[in-house]
Amino acid sequence: MKKLLLTLAIALAALPAAADEGMWLPSLISSRIKDMRTKGFRLTADDIYSINRASMKDAVVLFGGGCTGEIVSAEGLLLTNHHCGYDAIASHSTVEHDYLTYGFWARTRAEELPNERLNVRILVRMEEVTDRLAAGEEPKAIIEAAQAEGTGYRASIEQMYYGTQQFLFVYEQFDDVRLVGTPPSSIGKFGGDTDNWIWPRHTGDFSVFRIYASKENKPAAYSPDNVPYRPRRHFTVSTHGIGEGDFTMIYGFPGNTQEYILSDAVAYVAERSDPAKIAIRTGRLDLISAAQESDPALRIFYAARHASIANAWKKWQGEVLGIGRKRTVETKRDYEQRFAAWAAGQTEYADVVPQLKAEYARIVDPYFAREITSETLATLPARYTDAERAETFFARREPTERALFRYAFRQYADRCPAAYRIEEFDEGVAACGSPEAYADRLFDGVWSGDDTAPADRLKEGIKRVQKQIVDELGTANLRNLNSRRLNELYTAYIRGLRAWDTRRAFFPDANLTLRVAYGSVSGYEYADGEYHKPLTTLDGIIAKDNPAIYDYDIPQSLRDLYAAKDYGRWGIDVGDRRTVPVCFLATNHTTGGNSGSPVLNARGELVGINFDRTWRSTMSDIEFDPSICRNIAVDIRYVLFVIDRIGGAGYLLDEMTLR
Ligand code: ARG
Ligand code: GLU
Repeated sequence: MKKLLLTLAIALAALPAAADEGMWLPSLISSRIKDMRTKGFRLTADDIYSINRASMKDAVVLFGGGCTGEIVSAEGLLLTNHHCGYDAIASHSTVEHDYLTYGFWARTRAEELPNERLNVRILVRMEEVTDRLAAGEEPKAIIEAAQAEGTGYRASIEQMYYGTQQFLFVYEQFDDVRLVGTPPSSIGKFGGDTDNWIWPRHTGDFSVFRIYASKENKPAAYSPDNVPYRPRRHFTVSTHGIGEGDFTMIYGFPGNTQEYILSDAVAYVAERSDPAKIAIRTGRLDLISAAQESDPALRIFYAARHASIANAWKKWQGEVLGIGRKRTVETKRDYEQRFAAWAAGQTEYADVVPQLKAEYARIVDPYFAREITSETLATLPARYTDAERAETFFARREPTERALFRYAFRQYADRCPAAYRIEEFDEGVAACGSPEAYADRLFDGVWSGDDTAPADRLKEGIKRVQKQIVDELGTANLRNLNSRRLNELYTAYIRGLRAWDTRRAFFPDANLTLRVAYGSVSGYEYADGEYHKPLTTLDGIIAKDNPAIYDYDIPQSLRDLYAAKDYGRWGIDVGDRRTVPVCFLATNHTTGGNSGSPVLNARGELVGINFDRTWRSTMSDIEFDPSICRNIAVDIRYVLFVIDRIGGAGYLLDEMTLR
């Protein structure tokens, strides 16, 4: 009977990867090709990744170290998101040339704008080196040999499955990347933070760059003598559009997921970490929003800070909801118990689950302390720069900046586990009487610039304790709740899972290496009886348009085109109305870093640019739920429409390969 139950349990556990789940390594994509082709893909594994001939991977770039971009012309023209190009666009914006507000289009190559700190990387090849490392080769030697293979080559060894497998990635890095064009923020950031993570969506989140190279077509530092890069491969752009059910593939650089963590870690995220971080950020956002509402200069000043605080804040709220709805803690606990029952009979894995749980219990407080510190004290400046002091509205910021100090000090005092609190902090509170009084004392010195010594002392204390925690956890990789010991245990755990759960399709967690995700254009049931269609159109933009609300105030030219229904070749018929497609939803498994990724159709042609997910599906970083997990892309036809009809830069389309 017991055996029967066990067999049954294994059979139930052994379901293959849920539909459309997964971020696959391009060099191993042949294992997925059958499934991809069943779902509509028309090409081969070699079309996706090949080291012998040009393949799609040659047209995908890691953009600025945290986003993805795609090459769309034989002359190195590159598309990515507006929010990925934001720093570059902002750095060229002045009062006279306000590209953030009005957009920018280089009329000639000479007008394309160089960017000092921007680079892109193209994958030359990837290769498993697990055996070479096991045989005693030094990682450093492997990396250096790879970098010596070519001009501008960069290499790194990345762990898959917590180090079960190791891969060498070799990239060609280009440091001369120029801004070619961007729509105004009223298109590129339409809907702002209000619409962020939301569907239905109407954001034209794209910008245009170009890679430059030496005359020999090799990576080179910026020089006016550099010429447009001639890629091995660029994407054909499809103007035929997509519809519900159509195959989609995303090729890009997802940053960080944790699909194999124990229920203990999921509970930590959903019950302790996310709620604390959300609450802390709610308070910061309230203070900043109040300042923004009181003063137009402060609204602009705090816009970028508000956006970056609000982005993860909203994501975490969706993550908590998704984990609760999907009952991820319970299903993971059940899964690991069934594994543990099997593992009890295997010497290699017998204790791995209890040991993992013990290690979680050991590290959870120090890790939490580190997170709380990062969300509170570490967000405060130890001094204000001369440039800041010179701002005409500097004095108007004083009450808000002071309030942020007082708030951060109070939150830290209330939330940081006592054993990991910074000594200097406790002393300061004792001396001043309260966290707020201590905050005031430090703030006065920092603000006036007269006495920053106490703030510097606190910063030293923060650094010291954060380092002490890293030492205690034994690893510098603290993106996730992790320690050196956990990593070792996970190596065994994942190996055990793969031996036990033989029908599950395992994929390595995202770690900012190149991946393929595939799925289809698909709406979803947002709430009972409420279906969200997967396509939005210009009509939705017009419905949201409101000159009185900053985030919804579209350019007059867009209103005019709409009034005249002057869409040229970009118009489509939806039912009985003539309109322009704007954004679409699909089931591709993506995460942060996939911003700017090419969305490709069954023929490998570009149909969209990925830029977001729906907020209630962001638990896909931990567990993918095919019924609600959706990524959001801007339709390439809207991108072309905006370049052509709003930007008046139709000449850029001439160098693309349109189909
Ligand atoms: N949510 C997207 C991402 O995680 C877009 C963020 C930028 N847009 C914004 N409105 N803040 O990066
Ligand atoms: N906007 C995210 C990024 O910048 C992508 C959204 C997500 O899937 O997390 O990478």
